[in-house]
Amino acid sequence: MKFFIESAYFLASILFILGLKKLGSPDSAKRGNLLSACGMLLAVVATLAHEEIVSIPSICIAMFVGSLIGIYMAQKVAMTAMPEMVALLNGLGGLSSLCVGTAFVWSRSIVTPLDSLTLALSIFIGGITFTGSVVAWGKLKGVLPTKSIVFFAQKTLTSLLLFASAFVMTFLAIDPAAGSYFYACLIGFCLVLGLLFVFPIGGADMPVVISLLNSYSGLAASASGFVIQNSLLIISGALVGTSGIILTSIMCKAMNRSLSHVLFSGFSLKSASKKAGEKGSYKSMQPDDAYYLLESAKTILVVPGYGLAVAQAQHSLKELSALFEENGSDVRYAIHPVAGRMPGHMNVLLAEAGISYDALVEMDEINPTMEQVDVCIVIGANDVVNPSAKEDTSSPIYGMPVIETHRAKNVLILKRSMGSGFSGIENPLFFKSNAAMLFGDAKKTLQSLVTSMKNG
Ligand code: TAP
Repeated sequence: MKFFIESAYFLASILFILGLKKLGSPDSAKRGNLLSACGMLLAVVATLAHEEIVSIPSICIAMFVGSLIGIYMAQKVAMTAMPEMVALLNGLGGLSSLCVGTAFVWSRSIVTPLDSLTLALSIFIGGITFTGSVVAWGKLKGVLPTKSIVFFAQKTLTSLLLFASAFVMTFLAIDPAAGSYFYACLIGFCLVLGLLFVFPIGGADMPVVISLLNSYSGLAASASGFVIQNSLLIISGALVGTSGIILTSIMCKAMNRSLSHVLFSGFSLKSASKKAGEKGSYKSMQPDDAYYLLESAKTILVVPGYGLAVAQAQHSLKELSALFEENGSDVRYAIHPVAGRMPGHMNVLLAEAGISYDALVEMDEINPTMEQVDVCIVIGANDVVNPSAKEDTSSPIYGMPVIETHRAKNVLILKRSMGSGFSGIENPLFFKSNAAMLFGDAKKTLQSLVTSMKNG
């Protein structure tokens, strides 16, 4: 039986690694997801075969209830609310590690310093992940204030708790037989620390924090794996931990921010970067007029942003694109790495509407040839097409890589107002001579364009 369990864990680990690799490309992502799910099923079956499992019926009931809740949540969640759901799931991952560690403390005797230290680490990281994720969820959901929450002596309290936690963990490593009171103190410290870490971070930076907490939940699971000597948990936790760190770093890079800036500055771009306002005149166009431009365009580039998700306009976009193609235009889509509010936000929306991955073009690939694009349609995107990132050294987003739509022959911008995007700064693109605004909800504007194209 032991051989079967270890072999199944080994196979499941391979499936996880292959699954993760396939998630790297949109074409193979679905298969990657399926492979990982098969790995998880195998892991669950192998774990149930473990001799230490005492009550298979109660585990099956828990799995059944958990699956029902999971299916309900996944079907009900709106695409724009996905980040908060991920935050909640990360938090539950952290809570699981905390529970595994705590159960171990009260059910077994811990003999070696290494066991004691890994146990303490699994509880500590799990606890921080749990309460930190709950705060992240609350900020995104609007249950908690989204702005940075800072109070008197917060830094001092955080430092004191960190110091106390380090002391307790060192003590437990030196004396593994120390009473469970030390673990109880550690649980209290880490739960409060999770709150204190995430309170000062502005709601706008939550996606980065969630990605980091995701990585923490992996590390906590990995530490739990050492505690209960489960090789699969060690490997899968390490995979989640490292991939979360890589994703966090990609997001920071694409936003031109350092991780320490996101975590420790209590900085919210929205409040810190309001510029005096670069006023100018802008052109506003009706869909019927835009039709003439689009009808004669040979190359059309679509740049989606957060507003596409808000308007849920992906299906209308697909319908319009099909009409452009029928009309002989070459239609492509450029997605910025941080367009929207979570990694891959736009990719998911376009995939949902059945837009082919082959039509996607990378930002680095399209930017050098932007002058050849006849019409660029910017749908609910703002910061990711802001030329200040290239042209204005004083801009808070200066240096951030952007899709340089301002260099296209014509730019149509679909949004509801002249309002700013996530960063809260003015966008000079709107005032360029080759740009025109199509005001209104993106879905309605796209539907009007569909009608114009159909009526010719
Ligand atoms: P934003 O800069 O946030 O701009 C979105 C625009 O959509 C707004 O200017 C808004 O203008 C418009 N909009 C909203 N609802 C609309 C609707 N129903 N119809 C039409 N337009 C609508 O979006 P972006 O360009 O995608 O940039 C993303 C930003 O989020 C970046 O600053 C990025 O750093 C940040 N961020 C992203 C991530 C990830 S991982 N994606 C994580 C953290 C932060 P109106 O109000 O005038 O309509």
